[in-house]
Amino acid sequence: MDIYEQVFENNRKWVAEKNADDPGFFEKLAREQHPKFLFIGCSDSRVPATSIMGVEPGEVFVHRNVANLVVNTDVNSHAVLHYAVDYLEVDHLVVCGHYGCGGINAALEPKDRGILNGWLREVRDVYRLHKEELDAIEDEEARRRKLVELNVEEQCINLIKTAVVQRHYLKRNKLPRVHGWVYDLKTGLLKDLKIPFEETMEKVREVYPLNPDD
Ligand code: CO
Repeated sequence: MDIYEQVFENNRKWVAEKNADDPGFFEKLAREQHPKFLFIGCSDSRVPATSIMGVEPGEVFVHRNVANLVVNTDVNSHAVLHYAVDYLEVDHLVVCGHYGCGGINAALEPKDRGILNGWLREVRDVYRLHKEELDAIEDEEARRRKLVELNVEEQCINLIKTAVVQRHYLKRNKLPRVHGWVYDLKTGLLKDLKIPFEETMEKVREVYPLNPDD
């Protein structure tokens, strides 16, 4: 059986297993969703949100793009963010980067990447903001890993800059919370960068204050 046909065979087996474990599984899921998480991750095939989080369908709302970016003018990610925060009222917004990210590595190389230039510029902007710290790291692999982490932190700040996140934070007793994670392809382990969420919210609001009653 080729890989294409195999997918449908896999699907039938999966449906049979789910129905055997929980006969109402699909009917319940079809009625509604109440995920607690929005996961913004890289499109990389090796970083599947539900598998690495060990959760089932219905538990995490997902947006993925190259290098897990939250770009202010990107209608796609902002539509996902609005739906997750305004309608689903998720409690946790996660930006999840990963070591060995091709998007991050490409941004560190001085090359014309064609249509990707505009997208990767967001990562180059992160490099520019933290150039001193990054250039001080001699080991190339360590420098790349640090940029993966700094990129996650900056994308978390981009989430916090948005009106929808600030509005809910002020009205919903400091929810949703924003978290930065890094996934390690070599070990399969997730690391919580433990960004100082509330402090960052206060700092961001000194410059980008979008009040709930505006
Ligand atoms: Co990646």
